[in-house]
Parts: sequence; structure tokens; C-alpha cells
Amino acid sequence: MNKLHSLNRLINEDSNKYFIRTYGCQMNEHDSEQIAFMLNKAGFKRTEDIDESDLIILNTCSIRANAENKVYGLLGQLKKYKKDKNNNKIIAICGCMPQRESSLEELTNKYENIDIIFGTNTIHKFPELLLNYINENRKEIAVRESFNLEYEVLGYSYLYSHKAFVNIMYGCNNFCTYCIVPFTRGREVSRPLEEIITEVKKLAKNGVKEITLLGQNVNSYGNDFDKPISFSELLKELDKIEGIEQIRFMTSHPKDISDKLIQSFQSLNNLERHLHLPVQSGSNRILKEMNRTYSREKYIDIVNKTRKLNPDISITTDIMVGFPGETEEDFEETLDLVRICEFESAFTFIYSPREGTKAAKMENFVDKDIINDRFKRLTDLLYEIALKKNIKLIGSVQRVLVDEISKTNDEYLNGRTSSFLNVNFKGEKDLIGKFVNVKIIDANTFALEGEIIDV
Ligand code: 5AD
Ligand code: SF4
Repeated sequence: MNKLHSLNRLINEDSNKYFIRTYGCQMNEHDSEQIAFMLNKAGFKRTEDIDESDLIILNTCSIRANAENKVYGLLGQLKKYKKDKNNNKIIAICGCMPQRESSLEELTNKYENIDIIFGTNTIHKFPELLLNYINENRKEIAVRESFNLEYEVLGYSYLYSHKAFVNIMYGCNNFCTYCIVPFTRGREVSRPLEEIITEVKKLAKNGVKEITLLGQNVNSYGNDFDKPISFSELLKELDKIEGIEQIRFMTSHPKDISDKLIQSFQSLNNLERHLHLPVQSGSNRILKEMNRTYSREKYIDIVNKTRKLNPDISITTDIMVGFPGETEEDFEETLDLVRICEFESAFTFIYSPREGTKAAKMENFVDKDIINDRFKRLTDLLYEIALKKNIKLIGSVQRVLVDEISKTNDEYLNGRTSSFLNVNFKGEKDLIGKFVNVKIIDANTFALEGEIIDV
């Protein structure tokens, strides 16, 4: 806190605006909420206009090359600010890119305009780095390999007042052969149960109704404790907290899904009917090359079991196209799995080689045109299934937590069903943060349209 006070004394009304852009996953979004909290406490004010800002923070992602390229592109444009003495903004880079040795090297060597660099595991150091920079005009770098639970999270500046992300663990031990995350975020570290409960109780007291538990692989929560506890035990404890009406979580690894977790969707009052379960590929050969450690049969079995026990659940996934050596037969197996599992929706990605991972050393890259063709066939199939499933919901009544005014039409509100489907409906903005019952009257591939029938 002291550093925040010292910062507060240094800044003044004319130079206290910060702009923050977040790339990548919910973890990064949540990290940005923490950065925003510290800056707000120190007296900075957030702006969405990069030109009028005094401090620019880019919270970066390394998962695919295009995520990094966007940052390099923007950094190039930001050079103009350093040439102009009257508009000399402080530029800070954080997130996953500084955690990778090769990107860190490029950032430090090629982009002289960067003043402060910190990583995913050193967010708490930002006020100190900023203070040093302002006081001594000293470029600052602070990166740490793994997360240290010792550091005190001061708070978060939440984007919504009715829902919040809650970190339950950091890092990943799985080393899927294509993935950079274990290198950027380090090994798995679970947050103590009591600490999570305290945070969620505090959120409930402040009016938060929905929490989303975050971790790269929430199903292995607690495995690193001396006395291990399971993810379903954590859910059971959180389900008891008064005021929290909806609990969601992401992401799950299929290798760690337990029967107990599948049953939790029935046995717990507040666990919402949505499971995000990345499959990546439907081919056993490719799954093995990816080091995913489950088979397509095991995956399909989990999906069938989950749907049988929870008929109203939605199951979503991540699928990658063009992993090295992927043949037409392998890809057909992915399409076949999609037909069997009938996902409500999916994130689809084109494989992107990440230096330092095992897959990046594989030589049998798939031709670009073939990848593009497969990607289109895959998304066509996914959209066809999503539309069919959404149309089936016309006429049903869904309980929806109202999130915000629709981005495309300000007469409409937007929210999610229990199963995380997007719903748009007419309504007044004072309903934001409240539950409404909505009758579904229309559907397209990506969203439902409804009418409020009662509040
Ligand atoms: N290339 C493409 N997609 C990737 N993902 C992870 N690493 C890569 C990569 N190198 C995808 C996976 C993961 C999601 C978050 O990003 O599908 O589940
Ligand atoms: Fe990456 Fe695999 Fe860990 Fe997910 S489980 S973060 S894909 S290494």
C-alpha cells in the first residue's frame, strides 16, 4: 500500500490517466482488473482513449503468434509518442510475452520505447516499478518464473458489480506439446481453500451474484497441497456461501474430470449447467502427439455421461486444426467427434508453432490451403449444430442474469442462460445485475432472442 501512497503524491491531475489493453484469456482480463485496482488506488484515472493517456499498459498474450504480432504492431505505432516531448507517455508491457525468453529479448532489444516490463507473476511489483521509473527515469524489468502465493493481492477493480472472476490456481503442469502456457505461467500453484472462501464471501457481501472460478486446469485444484482436496470439494464449500447464486468455472482438462464433478451439476444448487471441456482433436494419434493423455473414446464417454445425468447442460470446447502431421483421416475423426458430441459452441484455432514447445520442433507442417479448407469445414459443421440446438430452445423459458446493454442495439439487454448461451431481449437498464425469466422467441447460430416474462 505504501508504494501506492508514494505514487499518489507524485502524480497530478494533468498527468494521471491510464489506458490498458488486454489480450488473451480471462486470466489476463482478471490480472488487468488487479492492475486497474492498484492504479485507481494510487489516484490514476482510467481512459479508453489512448491519445489522451499518460500511461499505457499492454497486457499481452503468447498463446498464438498472431496475439504477439498485434502487440508488436501497436508498439510500432506507439513510437510516435516518444518522439514528441509534450506527449511523452509511459509505456508498460506485462502479461505472458515478458515471461518468454525470446519475446522478452525482442521487447527489450528492439523496442526502446518500452519503459516498464513485468510478468504474470510479478503484477504486485508494478507500483514499485512505476515509482522508480517516475522518480529516477530508470527502465524497469521484473519477471518471475512461477507464481508466489506469498504476495498480497490488494484487490481488483471489477468490470461488473454483479459478477466476478476468482482465481483458484495459477500455472499448468500438463505440457501439451503445442502449448506455451506452462512456460509463461509456470507450474500449478493452488490458492488455499480458506483464502478463496474469504474472497468469495467478500464479493457476496458487495452484491456479486455470480462467480467464475479461473484456472488453466481447475480439475487438478488442490493436488499440490500436503493434504490434497478436490475441485468438487471446493465447489461444495463455495455453494454454501449466501448471496452467490451462480457458480461457473473454466477450464477443465478431460483427463482430470471426476464422476463427482459430473454429479455436482445436480447436487449443488448454484453450479450452472455449463462445462467447457477442450478436446483439441478427435484423432487418437494426434491426441497422443499433443500429449493430451486421453483418448477420443474417453472424451466421448465423459460427454455422454455428463449429458445423461444433466440433460439441460451445454458442453463447449476448444478445437485445433493443422497440428503437425494431421492427415485428412485425423481431421475426419475430429468432424466425427463433433457430430457425436454436438457441442453448443466451440473456439476453433489454427495451430501456431510456439518456439520452445515440443511441437514446434516437429517438421511435418500441414499446408496452409489444406488448413484453411479444414477450418472452414469444421466451423460450418459447428455452426450448423449450434443453430439446430438454439432453434430447439424457441418456446422455452430461461432464467437469465442480466449483464449489460446490448452492444448492437441499446433498446436491448444482454445476458446468459444457466447453460451460458447468449440471450438478447428488450428491457430497461435498471435490470442489469438482476435475474429475469425470458421466453425464447427466436434463435440464430450465436445467440437467442427473448422476451421478459417476469422479473
Ligand atoms: N496454436 C493454436 N492454438 C493453441 N491453443 C493453445 N496453444 C495453441 C497453439 N500453439 C489453443 C488450445 C487451447 C486454447 C486456449 O488455445 O485450443 O485450449
Ligand atoms: Fe496449455 Fe495444455 Fe496447460 Fe491447457 S492444459 S494450458 S493447453 S499445457
